Amino acid sequence: MTVKNSLNMGWFIPTSGDTGAFGDPSKDVASSFDQFERVAVAAERAGFEYVLVPTNQNCWEAWITATYLAARTSKLKMLVALKPGAINPPTLAKMVSTFDQISGGGRIYINLIAGANAAEARAEGLIESKEKRYQQMEEEIVLVKRLLSEEKVEFEGSYHQVHSPQILPKPSQRPYPPFFLGGGSEFAAEISAKHSSTHLFWGDYPDRIGTQITEMRARAEKYGRAEELRFAMRLVVVCRENEADAWAHAEQLIEGAEDRKTRMAALVANYDSVANNRQRELSCVPGNKLTPHLWSGLSDVRPGTGVAVVGNPEQVANQLREFIDVGCSGFCLSGYPHAEEAEIFGRLVMPLLRASPEV
Ligand SMILES: Cc1cc2nc3c(=O)[nH]c(=O)nc-3n(C[C@H](O)[C@H](O)[C@H](O)COP(=O)(O)O)c2cc1C
Repeated sequence: MTVKNSLNMGWFIPTSGDTGAFGDPSKDVASSFDQFERVAVAAERAGFEYVLVPTNQNCWEAWITATYLAARTSKLKMLVALKPGAINPPTLAKMVSTFDQISGGGRIYINLIAGANAAEARAEGLIESKEKRYQQMEEEIVLVKRLLSEEKVEFEGSYHQVHSPQILPKPSQRPYPPFFLGGGSEFAAEISAKHSSTHLFWGDYPDRIGTQITEMRARAEKYGRAEELRFAMRLVVVCRENEADAWAHAEQLIEGAEDRKTRMAALVANYDSVANNRQRELSCVPGNKLTPHLWSGLSDVRPGTGVAVVGNPEQVANQLREFIDVGCSGFCLSGYPHAEEAEIFGRLVMPLLRASPEV
């Protein structure tokens, strides 16, 4: 397999906030559409194919943000996060297909996520049980794929019933755009194996990711999808021309952030998420070093993606290649602050990855 032809690179839009140092409020970057646009434009210039627009209680609304950013960039695709039950499926199908027609077409991907916990689901009027939220997710992905690719869909599910709704326009990506899925539980693995095009992992030891990919391929094989399912890593990146500067930036990101650490520990203690719990576990690794260039120090100051790749350009590229070697074909990256770090990655690391002869 040739990496440069198949590597799918994404960056992240920080709609719940951005900073240059978690312990220094003067380094916070205020959220605004101008700020998100700066990040998206930097990501597009850096050579990323897509940006992930997240969703949760602390985020600006994902679809409206993504629509704005699609209009302010020219090719960048939007990977829009979606919770089960958040949008009525015929409306969702029209949103997907309409978005897909924007600016030349083919610029929408969907990232399925179950959400943090029962309390958040309850607050938003969604289903509290995680198992049921995943059941609803599965029903929705099946239904929305049908709505996008078939006519006169009749569907009687446990969560949704539709009777031949008209879905216009048709998506330009046929039969439907790619569905990503981010989650660490058995439910997530099973739905990805059956339905998603890319399963997203948060950072972990490369050999553990390799084992999970082997297991998930075996699972997908049961549904005739072993070749179809791809894997990508959602990681933070801290890259500088020389390694010492990269580590200095990494350390200053969490310096003096004791209050925030206490608040984050309380917040994530209530998360009902295998993926989040694993990031917490990794934050307890001695020295926060999973490998010489994989660092879990951010897990104490932010929920979710807490593992960062830290080093000089060659070291960062080599660490990413280790994930490629175990079966990943893409990365969804972020860095603090996001616009500046996208530019650095595009200049220092992207050329090395694109030049990789093969894996
Ligand atoms: C790559 C990735 C991206 C995620 N993005 C979001 C997000 O945008 N919003 C959110 O609330 N949760 C997000 N999550 C967290 C999932 O909602 C969380 O893992 C969920 O509780 C599923 O639980 P599980 O890990 O036990 O399957 C993401 C998880 C992963 C792995």
